[in-house]
Amino acid sequence: MSTVDLVMTIAHTLFASLWTGSILFFVGAVLPAAATGAVSIDMMSLVTNRLVWLTRISAIVFVATGGHLAGTAYTAGSLFGTPRGQLVVAMLVLWFVLTGLIEVSVKRFDRLAEREGIGSAVNGTRGLFVAAAAVAVLLLVDAGLLTANVV
Ligand code: HEM
Repeated sequence: MSTVDLVMTIAHTLFASLWTGSILFFVGAVLPAAATGAVSIDMMSLVTNRLVWLTRISAIVFVATGGHLAGTAYTAGSLFGTPRGQLVVAMLVLWFVLTGLIEVSVKRFDRLAEREGIGSAVNGTRGLFVAAAAVAVLLLVDAGLLTANVV
């Protein structure tokens, strides 16, 4: 493996764990804490702002590193015509869906929190955030199947 491929792979997996881990921690720990009223609006605003920025920076990293890995290891034929290539395409689609879910959920959360308070914001976005967590798990399963070389 060349040095460039190595750097790309490390950056890709680093951001993969940082991003999906942050989403799962947010949905599993921060949102339930906010639902109890234990977290202030200012603190939640700081956390959701960080989550959105991590999502945007990760998007740049995933497109650059994932694009490089796909471009060097696959052709259009093997990307769509082999099970391993299809796992990579699924990864791309899931990333796109998860990015959209985070952007929409956080926007709605901030709007509701400002107008109606934290409790209402949590209730109004819980479904979206749980969907985001489910997609994050699917991404990790997809990556696990690639790492385990099952196909
Ligand atoms: C633009 C979006 C993405 C593209 C184009 C992409 C593409 C790729 C490609 C081409 C590989 C190498 C596959 C192989 O070894 O044959 C890969 C590996 C990997 N991707 Fe992604 N990816 C994207 C987003 C993500 C996201 C959001 C995650 C979060 C979980 C992720 C996690 C991983 C992991 C952990 C590996 C290493 C798998 C291994 O050990 O081979 N990727 N990705």
